[in-house]
Amino acid sequence: MKDNFYITTPIYYTNWIPHIGHAYSTIIADTIARYQKISWRNVKFSTWVDENSQKAVLEAEKLDMKVMPYLDVMAGKHKWVWDGLKINYTDFIRTTEKRHHEFVRSVLQTSFDKWDIYQWEYEWMYCVWCEWFKKDDDLVYLNKETNETFPISDKVKVTENIIKVCPDHLKTPDIIKEKNYFFKLSAYEDKLLEYYENNPEFVVPSDRFNEVIAFTKRGLEDFSISRETNKFGIKLPFDEEQVTYVWYDALFNYLTVCQNWDEDFWPANLHVVGKDIIRFHAIYWPAMLLSAWYELPKQILTTWFFTVDGQKISKSIWNIIDPVDFSEKYSKDLLTLYLLCSFNIWQDWDFDQYQAVLAYNAKLANNLGNLVNRVVVLTLKLNLENGLTWEIDIDIKNKLDSYINNYNKSIESYNLKEALETSFSFLDDINKYVDTNEPWKLIKDESKREEVINIFFTISESLRQVWMNLYSFFPEKMWELFTKIWLENYSEQLEDWKLEELRSKEEIFMIKEKWEALFLRFELD
Ligand code: MSP
Repeated sequence: MKDNFYITTPIYYTNWIPHIGHAYSTIIADTIARYQKISWRNVKFSTWVDENSQKAVLEAEKLDMKVMPYLDVMAGKHKWVWDGLKINYTDFIRTTEKRHHEFVRSVLQTSFDKWDIYQWEYEWMYCVWCEWFKKDDDLVYLNKETNETFPISDKVKVTENIIKVCPDHLKTPDIIKEKNYFFKLSAYEDKLLEYYENNPEFVVPSDRFNEVIAFTKRGLEDFSISRETNKFGIKLPFDEEQVTYVWYDALFNYLTVCQNWDEDFWPANLHVVGKDIIRFHAIYWPAMLLSAWYELPKQILTTWFFTVDGQKISKSIWNIIDPVDFSEKYSKDLLTLYLLCSFNIWQDWDFDQYQAVLAYNAKLANNLGNLVNRVVVLTLKLNLENGLTWEIDIDIKNKLDSYINNYNKSIESYNLKEALETSFSFLDDINKYVDTNEPWKLIKDESKREEVINIFFTISESLRQVWMNLYSFFPEKMWELFTKIWLENYSEQLEDWKLEELRSKEEIFMIKEKWEALFLRFELD
């Protein structure tokens, strides 16, 4: 009986076409989903677009389009990007879908009936671009003449040229005076702290979790969940003059896709989110779920940010790297390898095409590619007959066992960088083993044939294991490889969740003809 595994990407706004930073979270989720699938789990992998936002309405206005046709185009573009990157999602949902509206309205009603939602009139600053309320402390001063910013703590006098702006968007927030509905987050402080204590891995990496805990301990404020001036969105079931915005609307997406009567995927095993939205996922979201009587997600993986040439990725400075263009220029494998192996997820990094090519050439073209070539040449020279017996080198066997152990630990804890690094470091060991044993010299001596056969099978068994582990990262190339070496039904068997079974097989593979290098080196412009 298979366990269910449910993983989600962040909910992307549709006023953007996904860029390299968005592709990062999605490729992480896709890789984890594939690993879970081949490891005998029933996988649900959902991705989405966050459509009921004020930003989208403004973008549509700018383009002189009606909102819905604009959103249709943008949802199509998002799908096009994920399909272009061969992302294997099982659900793609839009927040404008009817099933989502109905579900959100039912949860809102549940929390309203429980007195967790109440009405209040207030005045606040609001940044449309963040879709978030701002306090004075959240802003910076901008000198409009020099374009310099400086902290609000400087207590400078506001003039025509010196204005208070949102630090991320450099725009003056709107002043909003409205009667809104609020969610009683303050009532959930103790329950949240109790959940954090009982689930010490709820948010990873742990530094981010500590911040969440400290923030909660300082005391939680209720937050607004509706707008009276916005007209585009999901109407509150208990006050049709208002629409929900951001929180109920976006977050409950994660549950809308779990409403099929014949599936049971909630609670989610993993939400992958960026560091800017961790507070909402680790504090607001669980509180809203508790209020509506749902179980809480098991874990949240937080990623940091990419910059391009040291700058925040932004439409206005046009430093967006299109992930599909990039993987067409090089390859999807190069993109995956660079994103997943070169960066720690708990740090901001600069996306550097030069480094991406270097990493690919070193790890896939040289380290793995060369070893594969060596095996091809060796096996063609050996001209192997069927029914051979062979013994794996004991030292390599120990290394292999410890490698598989480390790989399993890393990937099961969603540490993809470590899973890849441990694979490449094991390949280094194999390359060294080949260098030391020099089978191409031994082969010239007929009396050493048995020894060479053992060396060959030691390498090939090691490679077979590495390939299966790399399958979650580079499925197409591994598929191609399995076919070339006459382990033809491997990919199908993996897709049929048979990783463990295949791992324990002692399998011989055949190479019948020389082939082109698997991973071609890229020259740097
Ligand atoms: N729709 C909201 C989330 C609502 S949750 C209630 C949103 N959307 S977003 O499109 O702006 O961002 C989606 C995800 O992309 C976030 O997790 C964000 O951290 C991530 N990234 C956006 N820019 C990024 C980089 N430059 N680098 C890495 N991740 C980045 O926020």
